[in-house]
Amino acid sequence: MAKVIGFSGSAVRSGTVEKALEHVLKSTGHEWELIQLNSLDMKQCIGCTRCAGTYRCILKDDINGILDKVVEADAIVVGSPARVGGMTGLTKAFLERLFPLYHRDMLTQGKIAATVAGGMFHNNSVENELSQFYSGFGMVEAGSMTVGGNASCYKCGYGETCDHSAFIALYGEGAKITDDVFYSFEKDKEAKGRAELLGKQIADALNSK
Ligand SMILES: Cc1cc2nc3c(=O)[nH]c(=O)nc-3n(C[C@H](O)[C@H](O)[C@H](O)COP(=O)(O)O)c2cc1C
Repeated sequence: MAKVIGFSGSAVRSGTVEKALEHVLKSTGHEWELIQLNSLDMKQCIGCTRCAGTYRCILKDDINGILDKVVEADAIVVGSPARVGGMTGLTKAFLERLFPLYHRDMLTQGKIAATVAGGMFHNNSVENELSQFYSGFGMVEAGSMTVGGNASCYKCGYGETCDHSAFIALYGEGAKITDDVFYSFEKDKEAKGRAELLGKQIADALNSK
């Protein structure tokens, strides 16, 4: 059995990205693990390049253990909601911290990768950025999927009246924010289908290795 690791770059526990990511991982039929990046002690890459000689990071936090997991994994799935037009800072910080694997022997070479991109707008920026990352790190992208999200204006308290409200832009002046406007992965049969398809694409890519 192959090992597939999902990394959720959403700081929202049990949010839409995490739920979709878990569904993808289960749908691979392989051994899987889901890591919430927000639960790690993870500093920012300081660009010292000392990892070039050792494939290890000199920073004292959780990242060397994560590097070991990525090296052992046959496939990784990265999930990120869209935030201000692209992936979350948490996801980006994580990708930079994988730099120790990038050097002479490129320890990520040939691994299978896939994306879960969440949000209402700019999901494809997340997908594109991650595609570029996989290809730069020598990985083979099995596929990607999008999952819906909820504009912050739905819950900030000013969404029905604010001049910059995405809720008003979507539903019009005078509309009321009710439970119905909130996106739910559990209720989205199409998104669940996309997650199952992506899981199968990952399994197919693993089987044809
Ligand atoms: C600071 C901030 C910026 C955001 N920017 C975007 C964005 O550019 N596009 C978008 O669709 N959603 C944006 N959102 C909303 C959420 O990221 C989005 O609903 C996401 O799908 C939530 O996924 P989660 O439940 O897994 O966290 C933003 C939210 C916050 C707090």
